[in-house]
Amino acid sequence: MEHRTLTRLAAPALAVLVALSSGCTGATVQGRPGASGLRDPYFPRAGNGGYQADHYALDLEYDPAGGELHGTAVITARAEQGLSSFNLDLSGLKVEGVEVQGAGARFNRTGNELTVRPAKDLRKGEVFRTRVDYSGRPKALVDPDGSKEGWITAGGGDAVAVGEPVGSMGWFPGNHHPSDKAAYDITVTVPRGYEAVSNGELRSRRDVGGDRTAFAWRSAEPMASYLATVAVGKFEVTTGKTPSGVSVYQAVASSEKEAARGALARVPEMVEWGSTVFGPYPFGTAGSIVMPAGTLGYALETQTKPVYSGAPDEELVLHELAHQWFGDSVSPKSWKDMWLNEGFATYAEWLWAESHGGVSAQRRFEAFLAGDTSVDAQAGNDWAAFPPASPPGAGHISDDPVYYRGAMVLHRIRQEVGDAKFFDLLRGWAGDHRYGNASTADFTAYAERRTGVDLKRVWDVWLYGEGRPKAP
Ligand code: ARG
Ligand code: ZN
Repeated sequence: MEHRTLTRLAAPALAVLVALSSGCTGATVQGRPGASGLRDPYFPRAGNGGYQADHYALDLEYDPAGGELHGTAVITARAEQGLSSFNLDLSGLKVEGVEVQGAGARFNRTGNELTVRPAKDLRKGEVFRTRVDYSGRPKALVDPDGSKEGWITAGGGDAVAVGEPVGSMGWFPGNHHPSDKAAYDITVTVPRGYEAVSNGELRSRRDVGGDRTAFAWRSAEPMASYLATVAVGKFEVTTGKTPSGVSVYQAVASSEKEAARGALARVPEMVEWGSTVFGPYPFGTAGSIVMPAGTLGYALETQTKPVYSGAPDEELVLHELAHQWFGDSVSPKSWKDMWLNEGFATYAEWLWAESHGGVSAQRRFEAFLAGDTSVDAQAGNDWAAFPPASPPGAGHISDDPVYYRGAMVLHRIRQEVGDAKFFDLLRGWAGDHRYGNASTADFTAYAERRTGVDLKRVWDVWLYGEGRPKAP
């Protein structure tokens, strides 16, 4: 039928159709511009439409003395539509040149959008490579909640990159939204005497040009760009393996060495514990990056190696490790889904405590209800200020309700379904969404399907409801 319709078209129209559908080379392929944002409910301009990245190769050369970065980013992506142009997110820095599929491309910049116009339109489904050469002094960006992210420098040439929610555009061009996950190869060249640490496995460390060292890191498993990191400093590095064979790499600023020792020593045991409670640890390697105290004022669950600002305590290390399952492996579909990260990582702390001689999660839940800070110092915070599934604005996605009321949502589910179904749910969720993305609606549907229990009251009151929930 299709065919007969086609044969009746006038010849020129037919030629255009054939050119379009066969995606053949030549100027007849018509693309349109990719969207400049993914319409995230909190960060509408983050990320870009029309393509998905598969792999980033970042080749960075950093001068700790001057704070100057020279970078080459080669991004392999797949076009999801015909593209006449597409965007990357990049803040600051100077773009020296852009190539697409080896040919020089035109580009322009407005705000944090780098628009690239390839010499030839890209076909839908085409896998294409974009190379961006850039340089400059990368900067810290200020979050809507007032905290710093992006490229953060400390004294003595130390620097660290963190990107939640949108700081990664401060140090490399990319599709900076958690819904587009990719593999990474990050190579960092620094002056001899400095260490450069990043996500994943250290593939090689070699001297270049007599006075510099190049560290090549690989993240084979998909990673959301906000979880990418680079840390430069004079770290003490220790390596090891967990009993089940996950490699461990811990880089600690010398000023924090003593204070960090106790908590970091428990990383292998925590990886094993998490693997029994949440299912297999999702990555081939684990560890930590401990920056000098005061570097950033918070910790971040950067993939495989969380970044700490000063020596962390045991709870914090457990929290960031739990994010490897919840946040890093199972990533939010949008920034509205933050409680799937923070509620789970907080509840993991409660579970760790109850299985290691601390108070039970039930007791802690009751303490939060009663505001009893003798059980948990956080119990008096304003955890009921808003429902965790809808923070009142971009400046609130890391507020207390997302963490503590988020954890209470999980405890309410546990109360309703019992321990066996609850722990099966945690493992199922981590396993079935491994390396992917999920939303709050995905979770509520999954929880009811997996447990066979109607949890509508829990969602209505604890997850979506305004006001302070009462004891169930
Ligand atoms: N996700 C981090 C953690 O809880 C905290 C990030 C805080 N960032 C911020 N902008 N407040 O492990
Ligand atoms: Zn967290």
